[in-house]
Amino acid sequence: MNAIVLLGPPGAGKGTIAEVIVDKGYQHISTGDLLREQIRLETPLGLEAKKLMDQGQFVPDEVVIGMIRDLLVSAPAEKFLFDGFPRTLVQAEKLDELLTELNGQMDQVLLLKCPASVIVERLSGRRSCPDCKTVYHVTYNAPKLEGVCDVDGCSLTYRDDDVPETIRKRLSVYAEQTTPLICYYKDRDLVMSIDANQSIDQVRSAVRKLVE
Ligand code: AP5
Repeated sequence: MNAIVLLGPPGAGKGTIAEVIVDKGYQHISTGDLLREQIRLETPLGLEAKKLMDQGQFVPDEVVIGMIRDLLVSAPAEKFLFDGFPRTLVQAEKLDELLTELNGQMDQVLLLKCPASVIVERLSGRRSCPDCKTVYHVTYNAPKLEGVCDVDGCSLTYRDDDVPETIRKRLSVYAEQTTPLICYYKDRDLVMSIDANQSIDQVRSAVRKLVE
């Protein structure tokens, strides 16, 4: 089993560029999407997670690690792309343990770098399809028909955590809890940095070159 981790602040474009790596045969695992699915289904886990996510806080490590473990031991894929996981040192250490247990290895950690001012603008203009999860931006990646998903015609929605106060909180939680992972993986020579403050096509092309 092989793994790639997408690291970067909220709104850097992790979800947007994931398809480039999925095209190389990697199964995309987004912990944010998994949690939002629990919220949609109104499970006890989802109801607890929503309170934290709406405040820009992380969901407890053990909850997220449990979801990842369940997926890895049951999923048939050989190659995984982790988007939004790990986000804490505890999660990173647990992922290492899981990969060892499953005879897997970490191939690369792709770090998307983007300034905070750009992030606020990106998240404020983000719209997503609640059904197929396609992500748009009102300016930079607009759907053909305003407010309507190109893929399945559903009405686009915005995320409850994409409001300025929560975006600021998410950025500070990222700086405090997730940036230590950069050193954690740099020490093992796994990190490849990408300038995410370019057009979507330019970032996709840079990622494509790195995962060749
Ligand atoms: P999650 O859903 O993972 O959110 P995030 O990490 O904050 O990242 P985003 O999904 O907001 O941004 P992205 O980098 O994917 O950007 P996107 O491609 O959409 O997590 C949400 C919450 O769940 C967390 O806050 C936490 O509470 C909880 N959670 C999740 N995982 C957890 C974990 N492991 N542990 C604990 N808690 C966890 O792009 C953003 C916008 O910009 C879009 O509109 C897009 O069209 C546009 N855009 C993208 N790239 C470009 C570009 N190059 N130029 C112009 N526009 C662009």
